Amino acid sequence: MNIPDPLAIHPDNAIVWHDDRLYLLDQRILPGETRFLACASAAETAAAIKDMVVRGAPAIGITAAYGVVLAARDRFRGDPAGWRDGVGADIELLAASRPTAVNLFWALERMRRLINALEAADPVPALLTEARRIHEEDAAANRAMGDFGAELIHGPTDIITHCNAGALATGGYGTALGVVRSAHAAGKVRMVYADETRPWLQGSRLTAWELAQSGIPVTVQSDNVAASMMARGEVGWVVVGSDRIAANGDVCNKIGTYALAVLARHHGVGFMVAAPTSTIDMQVESGADIPIEERDPQEVLACGGKRIGPEGVGAHNPVFDVTPAALVDCIVTERGVVRQPDVDKIRALMAAV
Ligand code: MRU
Repeated sequence: MNIPDPLAIHPDNAIVWHDDRLYLLDQRILPGETRFLACASAAETAAAIKDMVVRGAPAIGITAAYGVVLAARDRFRGDPAGWRDGVGADIELLAASRPTAVNLFWALERMRRLINALEAADPVPALLTEARRIHEEDAAANRAMGDFGAELIHGPTDIITHCNAGALATGGYGTALGVVRSAHAAGKVRMVYADETRPWLQGSRLTAWELAQSGIPVTVQSDNVAASMMARGEVGWVVVGSDRIAANGDVCNKIGTYALAVLARHHGVGFMVAAPTSTIDMQVESGADIPIEERDPQEVLACGGKRIGPEGVGAHNPVFDVTPAALVDCIVTERGVVRQPDVDKIRALMAAV
């Protein structure tokens, strides 16, 4: 009998619930080392999100949902009558791990709503079922997005992507890379150019590894190459993911995405954002209201653990930027495609179930 290995190393297997523990494929050390890190508590889970063991908007949300399961298990064991207060504190801790990706808060809110409605003595089975559902729904949404997005691509063509919006960043299959996978399966992808994505190198480490694992042709390029690539007229699409989309269609994603969108418009290249509706934040009117995470300047001042700038010089390190809706050709979601997004089209999408 062929028994699947729950901790098999594969981009689609980056978040695993196994033996009452949460295992995360450690994205800080990929692709050189392939190792899972176990999280046994909500505090360990929050630290793993903050420290980039797991990253990518949907993946952060799924991870936090499992973190709530760990919280409930520990708090219920410690105090079967008063566990809810403790879990509330753990949810706050998880919510404080990273500020920009709305999927984190969306998933925690879903878990909190269930906790408020729970009547069973032991909360763990129902919460685990809900976390698994969030995980599975995300993977299914990505497959739907892959189909919708691939329809828009007339190939074979070259595609530029930025950061990593693949299986590693989601519950499986990927958002932007899900579109790439579906388009590749349909024979529409000549080459994927992965921006290296300084300073964390999600492109050269994660996207390149993930696409190579799937047999999709990928070439890494420095973040400065896109303009001249587009000028040569070979790029058909820029395809990226998102951490939060405002109600007016402004798109927040990895720093450098805005520059790509400006370049794409100038060169007549399509600019596609693939993101599930859990990434759309109707509470936020425009991109100006999205909190942008600032990380440690050392991430910019050093490379591979070695300082590269002179001592005494600082750096600024905003890790996301906002692309105005006017520069976005289409937002691909699991519910369908919004072309030339604006407030009315986003409202209509979110109202349709
Ligand atoms: O800092 P990261 O690696 O968490 O940033 C991730 C991104 O910007 C992704 O493009 C985004 O989360 C979409 S992932 C499907």
